[in-house]
Amino acid sequence: MNKQHTTTADHAEAGAAPAIRVCGLTLAYGARVIQRDLTFTVNRGDIFVIMGGSGCGKSTLLRHLIGLQRPAAGEVFYGTVPFWNISASARREAMRGFGVLYQSGALWSSMTVAENVALPMQLYSDLPPEAIRERVAFKLALVGLAGCEACYPGELSGGMKKRAGLARALALDPEIVFFDEPSAGLDPVSAKRLDDLILELRDSLGTTVVVVTHELASLFAIGSNGVFLDAEAQTQLALGSPRELLARSADLRVIRFLTRAGGSPAETALPPTVAPLKQRSDTK
Ligand SMILES: Nc1ncnc2c1ncn2[C@@H]1O[C@H](COP(=O)(O)OP(=O)(O)OP(=O)(O)O)[C@@H](O)[C@H]1O
Ligand SMILES: [Mg+2]
Repeated sequence: MNKQHTTTADHAEAGAAPAIRVCGLTLAYGARVIQRDLTFTVNRGDIFVIMGGSGCGKSTLLRHLIGLQRPAAGEVFYGTVPFWNISASARREAMRGFGVLYQSGALWSSMTVAENVALPMQLYSDLPPEAIRERVAFKLALVGLAGCEACYPGELSGGMKKRAGLARALALDPEIVFFDEPSAGLDPVSAKRLDDLILELRDSLGTTVVVVTHELASLFAIGSNGVFLDAEAQTQLALGSPRELLARSADLRVIRFLTRAGGSPAETALPPTVAPLKQRSDTK
């Protein structure tokens, strides 16, 4: 965690293309439009949070970003590649640069943790077994599961399963990792550990992270940039990090969401332990 991460600004100075550019995206199920005119940029090294109330289309947007659902209109660019305007095989190739952590961890219950993490390497790389074993041990150490190689998913706690899922998502050294509700169902301590792990991932490996979450504590702890979707407006209401939005958004719907207005009193306050983003990830 001591290593300073490279900021969005550094990359911009270096002239690197953004990791993802979403342009005029419309998300629909058949004739039913969920979101339209989504336009935003995810820069390299961002922890980009997709925010918004339940049912607004966060998971649907994620599915469009990872190649599971074709947009009704618009395009998603990875670097300069128009992701939905290339051949299916080129898209599959591009998808190998993604790591995806699904809500449940989605581990194979009949395989050990090591076998689960090794699977993508066996399927998609030419690495010999010994190199795979070494890499599996490295990925498991990275997520704090050193020594858990022989465990079966059923023997792990919820938090450990998520971390094992993350190790598998990292198996092929993805440039971008996508999470759908990573801390859902976790106790606060495990959720915070996962947040720290996500920050560490970005800081030490420079991985770009896209996270769907409506956990306020996580949003403020890790989000360096983001988009706010609204179900009623059927489009994005705001762009920026949760802290920036809380400080400067004039949209009451955004402020209400970020302060849990009308929610339970326990949820209305920012977690006191969360230092301002600038302080946490300050790079200069
Ligand atoms: N396979 C589907 N077919 C038709 N409609 C769907 C499908 N999946 C989701 N929807 C609808 O799309 C809308 C957005 O759903 P989505 O799951 O993307 O919301 P979300 O923001 O992820 O919600 P949550 O925070 O509860 O996970 C909802 O109205 C939902 O009913
Ligand atoms: Mg969802």
